[in-house]
Amino acid sequence: MPFRNHIVWVTGASSGIGEAICRAFAQQGARVVLSARRGKELERIRRTLPSPNDHLVYTMDLSRRLNWEEAATIVQAQCGPIDIFVHSCGRSQRSSAHETTMDVDRQLMELNYFSAVGLTKALLPSMIQRGRGHLVPISSVSGRVSPPFRSAYAASKHALHGFFDAIRAENHHNGIKVTIICPGYVRTHLSENAATHTLEPYGQMDATTARGISPERCAQRVLKGIARCEEEVLVGGRETWAVYLKCLAPRLLSRIIRRGNRP
Ligand SMILES: NC(=O)c1ccc[n+]([C@@H]2O[C@H](COP(=O)([O-])OP(=O)(O)OC[C@H]3O[C@@H](n4cnc5c(N)ncnc54)[C@H](OP(=O)(O)O)[C@@H]3O)[C@@H](O)[C@H]2O)c1
Repeated sequence: MPFRNHIVWVTGASSGIGEAICRAFAQQGARVVLSARRGKELERIRRTLPSPNDHLVYTMDLSRRLNWEEAATIVQAQCGPIDIFVHSCGRSQRSSAHETTMDVDRQLMELNYFSAVGLTKALLPSMIQRGRGHLVPISSVSGRVSPPFRSAYAASKHALHGFFDAIRAENHHNGIKVTIICPGYVRTHLSENAATHTLEPYGQMDATTARGISPERCAQRVLKGIARCEEEVLVGGRETWAVYLKCLAPRLLSRIIRRGNRP
């Protein structure tokens, strides 16, 4: 069990991929801090984890500009220094760029990108001081390839790669690892919760999401990638091939990707 007694902070822990990652770490003997907005849901999940008293709930709304240092200080005062930080909170989008209000662009950037930046900057000094720490942003295949009707979402996920690739290069000698996760379709509430052009929830399960891999399978691959210190993990079905196609045959990918249905 490579993660026994590791302290792991997971955002987006109340649902989907984040929840499955919490369960997978807890099964391996890690101590987990669960964060999201819905405290009751986090508590329910905590109580069903192995050794529930080893884990902690810390509720936060990451679409707001928070005092990231204060959040990191409170969490670490309660559970000790964070070994692994998994940033799984996120919201997708189903709307064309020209109809989408700037509010949507800003909100998705705040939640999907700036919250990862804020919490990472707050955690890095203590990780550098200890000479160890592992950062695990959950990006997406859309962080590598932009599908139609996901302009704000894809931009926020691409930004994660720019930031975390630099963090990896800067902190290699400090003992900090970065594993960026790029899921394809995973069967979660992502499409139902996605923002439309006015931030209203889309409210529908996409057929592609419904056919996706289970969050549990995704979580197993995430833990394997972390244990092996992989730099980037592609996980999902054939849709992940788009990342290779972008390098090998970009015009062919463009022809395929523009067939994407209007939501
Ligand atoms: N499912 C897929 O096919 C897929 C594919 C590629 C990438 N991803 C990425 O995987 C990550 C997890 O998504 P999921 O598929 O598990 O979707 P999900 O089931 O909708 O989970 C989203 C999580 O984010 C949290 N969250 C949303 N808004 C928040 C806010 N304002 N403050 C704090 N937490 C917030 C939610 O908790 P609360 O509502 O309790 O706050 C929930 O725990 C996301 O970053 C997503 O972009 C998913």
